[in-house]
Amino acid sequence: MYYPEEIVEEVRAKNDIVDVISGYVSLKKKGGNYFGLCPFHNEKSASFSVSGGKQMYYCFGCGAGGNVFTFIMNYENYTFGEAIKMLADKAGVQLPEVEDSKENRARENRRQKLLDINKESANYFYYQLRSPQGSVGMDYFKRRMLTDETMKKFALGYSNKTSNDLCNYLKHKGFSDELIRESGVAVFNEKYGMSDKFWNRVMFPIQDSNHRVIGFGGRVLGEGEPKYLNSPETPVFDKSRNLYGLNYARTSRKNNIILCEGYMDVIAMHQAGFTQAVASLGTSFTSGQANLIRRYAENVILSYDSDGAGVKAALRAIGILKEAGVSGKVLNLEPYKDPDEFIKNMGAEEFQKRLEGAENSFFYEIRMLQRDYDLADPESKTKFYNEIARRLCHFSVEVERDNYMDAIARRYNISPESMKKLVISHAAREGMGSEVIRPKPTAAKKVTPQESGEKVQRLLLTWISDYPRVYGQVKQYISPQDFTKELYSKVAEIMFRELEEGNFNPAAIISMFTEEEQQREVAQLFNTKLEHLGLESEEEALQKRTEMEKAFHDIVMKVKQNSYEYHMENSGRDIEALSRTITAKKELEVLAKTHISLE
Ligand code: CTP
Ligand code: MN
Repeated sequence: MYYPEEIVEEVRAKNDIVDVISGYVSLKKKGGNYFGLCPFHNEKSASFSVSGGKQMYYCFGCGAGGNVFTFIMNYENYTFGEAIKMLADKAGVQLPEVEDSKENRARENRRQKLLDINKESANYFYYQLRSPQGSVGMDYFKRRMLTDETMKKFALGYSNKTSNDLCNYLKHKGFSDELIRESGVAVFNEKYGMSDKFWNRVMFPIQDSNHRVIGFGGRVLGEGEPKYLNSPETPVFDKSRNLYGLNYARTSRKNNIILCEGYMDVIAMHQAGFTQAVASLGTSFTSGQANLIRRYAENVILSYDSDGAGVKAALRAIGILKEAGVSGKVLNLEPYKDPDEFIKNMGAEEFQKRLEGAENSFFYEIRMLQRDYDLADPESKTKFYNEIARRLCHFSVEVERDNYMDAIARRYNISPESMKKLVISHAAREGMGSEVIRPKPTAAKKVTPQESGEKVQRLLLTWISDYPRVYGQVKQYISPQDFTKELYSKVAEIMFRELEEGNFNPAAIISMFTEEEQQREVAQLFNTKLEHLGLESEEEALQKRTEMEKAFHDIVMKVKQNSYEYHMENSGRDIEALSRTITAKKELEVLAKTHISLE
């Protein structure tokens, strides 16, 4: 770990989570918790909860959760080191310099230096563009109708014709050759040594969502190959986890994100008021980027070129977005090639109309599919309908599937009944009939025994963290080994130990896990909805005591039963394990007859 545990804990304790999150999200008190709109996914009703008591947040909508560090790391896109620095500053806690491990410090230092080099380079390009030798670049941007304000907003620049200006400038600033090379703004060649990577190009600094420059794209003036040259990936530039323009788009407060291919497209759209536009970074769209987008919007409007490669890229992106739970629509800008050209020719109002008319991604997929078939030929036509049916099977919610089925049938001149028959025969053939042809539209997924086992384990831990006094009642029956999932068992162990010592602190437990995924899971553990009770306050809980005692008893029983079955199954012929399961069985019988009191 980065800093000594006590310091981490001090910083955490001095930053009340409700205060900190209130600075980002407007929260309303409801029962014992605060609720607001989740900043990590787009939603209309508040499912993002913050608990002052537990010093944790958890979103019932998207599952984001953690303590105050996790929140700052996710919201600001900070590393743990950056988050703790910010929170320590806020609370006036002095962080020790020396306690940090050498490697960590070296790595952080290096990252920081690479960011510094990027920043200095961006400054350098920025001034070149505005100086006499940069007039070619300036003319270029003016020809492309960019205003001074836009150029400033995107910190656009120009790299000189000479080939080692920037290197010299950076060396003069005190950066080592090695770091300059690592940052990607310079290239190395046996014969000529180190020289600038970019020269005589207009420069697009690429910023992360915190406005830090992490790389560059440089475009030739006019024709020439390659048209765009981009920084390579570096420790600070991960192309699969950043999007050009996201630093502005993330605060645009529109209900969608426009995803396109080019830097110039993003800039043209922002200039025309569409500040929700982003682009991937000269590489194809990734699931990391889809997840990034999901934090800010649930709808994506794709604007890829209409040529063959663009259609292929769009279809691919639709699939990736779908997997990330984001719905996609496709923009049609014909007869223009891209948003930049469209806006230049048709203006912002027309663009807005096209946005509103963006095509549902399923219809788009089918329309593109149709181009491979000849509908005048009965055989080809049949194949086409079959392919549609196959794809319709992928909608697992019946209502949704029916709606698409009707719409598609109308569009492609087939009766809804025939389409339905095709879908059913497909579903049957692919062995998913029972799931697809459900008589009633019940969307709920089948829960596996393992999942339900884990759910009761979470419920029990949530319950104990909400009402720590019940721990005394269950500790004779439940031990950390009864939690069959490794992470849960680990948390239970820490939690039970802390409860014994009288210093139980759920938010601090989160800090003990370094992986973000684990932190989320731990937050979920402590925030599983006690839904069947719908308890809002402690008083209410007391009023419903008998009901609660019964429910609680049920949960404890289920955890124990689950643990018993699990150990039975996994103990093999080991005598010791066998005797443990026998004991567990006895305990289970005792527990069944025991009354657990919540007093
Ligand atoms: N791109 C790239 N390298 C290239 C060509 C393109 O990295 N040799 C990336 C750039 O990020 C570019 C995007 O792909 O912005 C789209 O390319 P393209 O459609 O060719 O360019 P436009 O964005 O239309 O650029 P312009 O309008 O300046 O011609
Ligand atoms: Mn273009």
